This record gives sequence, structure tokens and C-alpha cells, in this order.
Amino acid sequence: MTQSPTAGGTAPPPKKRVSILISGRGSNMVALAEAARAPGYPAEIAAVISNRPEAAGLNWAADHGICAIALDHKQFATRTAFEARLHSILMNLGTELICCAGFMRMLTGGFIDRWRDKQLNIHPSLLPAFPGLDTHQRAIDAGVKVAGCTVHFMRLEMDTGPIVGQAAVPVLSSDTAEDLAARVLAAEHHLYPAALALIASGKAVVEAEKVVIREEVNLAPALYSPMLG
Ligand code: GAR
Repeated sequence: MTQSPTAGGTAPPPKKRVSILISGRGSNMVALAEAARAPGYPAEIAAVISNRPEAAGLNWAADHGICAIALDHKQFATRTAFEARLHSILMNLGTELICCAGFMRMLTGGFIDRWRDKQLNIHPSLLPAFPGLDTHQRAIDAGVKVAGCTVHFMRLEMDTGPIVGQAAVPVLSSDTAEDLAARVLAAEHHLYPAALALIASGKAVVEAEKVVIREEVNLAPALYSPMLG
């Protein structure tokens, strides 16, 4: 007697195909790609695409058997021409979700709308605080005692959109912007794979411009900064 593919249990749901957009170092891309190697992870990496051909992350992806594509925005006369090509590459790859990971090119409303609720970004602050550039120095200058990072769906305005997850870290009085960036980046590498898993598995969905998380369990203690005596 032949066995059906689902004999002995239900087949796992298909993994979501994710394309990662980068512009440089790509350490968040590495965190996502490494998480996606786990058999039970709900997403697989279709490709890594950089708008800067010299991005170090492209070499890492190619060396690790991931489809690595350089799409130099300077080769296109207009933003929309660049985005039309990017969109067609993403479609040909069977992309279901996009993860921007240090992708430093502004996208127009046309592209953002086409990928609405299918495009994630990570930003190194606790949004809506400190959107944009130079976020760590601005956090230090403001004297905040807690900083962090945010994974969110993308909307037209930069660093806005429904928040999937955030991680907080302390800010120390002795911190330089580089010290704080390093502490936040370590948190980013945990947060982004966890947030993508929530979305790819369907455990988190956008409803009325907020991300609703099903079966939520959060027993993490509060982060005190400075530590209370
Ligand atoms: C990360 O800190 C990411 O949060 C930030 O760029 C860095 C990229 O590092 N993104 C933004 O500031 C977007 N507004 P990586 O290339 O090593 O992942």
C-alpha cells in the first residue's frame, strides 16, 4: 500500500518566500538567513537584492548559496524605473514578503502600495521616537534611558507603519552613538527573525493599522534603566 504525503500527520504549511533588500553590511540579512535555515522556520530566503553593487552583504549571500542580485539604482533614470525593475525581479522570484534590512533607498508610494502589508523594515529606535537618520546620537542628546529597535510594516512616510515588534536596551551615561548602535544591533539580530516568523506563520496580522498577535505570551520582566536599587 502506498502512503500519501500526509500519512502520519498533516504536512507542514509551505514556507513564505522572502526577498531581503539591503544596501550595505547586511548583518540583519545574515540573522534572517541563519534563522531561515532551521527546518521549522516559516520562511525561506528567495534572494538578497542590493541597490549598491559593492554591498558587503551581497558577497556573504552568494558565498552561502543564496541568490544575490545587485540592482544599481544609479543605472536607472528615475526612481519609478528602478522600482519597476525591482518589482518585476521580486515577482519572478515568487516573493511573498519583503524584508528591508538596512535598505537605505527611499521608495515611492507606488511601490509601497503594491507591497502593502507584505513589506517589513527594521529601524534602530523605539518608533515613533527618532525616525530617520542619526537616530542613536539623537537618542543620546535627548537623554533617554531606554533605546531599542522596531520591526514594522512599511507605509509611505519614512519609518512609519504598523509595528510588529520592538526590543529595548538601556542607554548608559557613558555611551557614544557607536556604543549604543552596537547594543541595539545585537537586539535587532534577535528581533527581526522573531518578527518575521510571526508574520510568515500568520500568528500576527494587520487589523485596522495595528498588528494583532494571536496567542500572545509575554512574561518578560520590565527593563529598568538605570537599574533600581
Ligand atoms: C541597522 O541598524 C538597521 O536597523 C538600520 O541600518 C542598519 C543596517 O545594518 N536601518 C535603518 O536605519 C533604516 N531606517 P545591517 O546592514 O548590518 O543590517
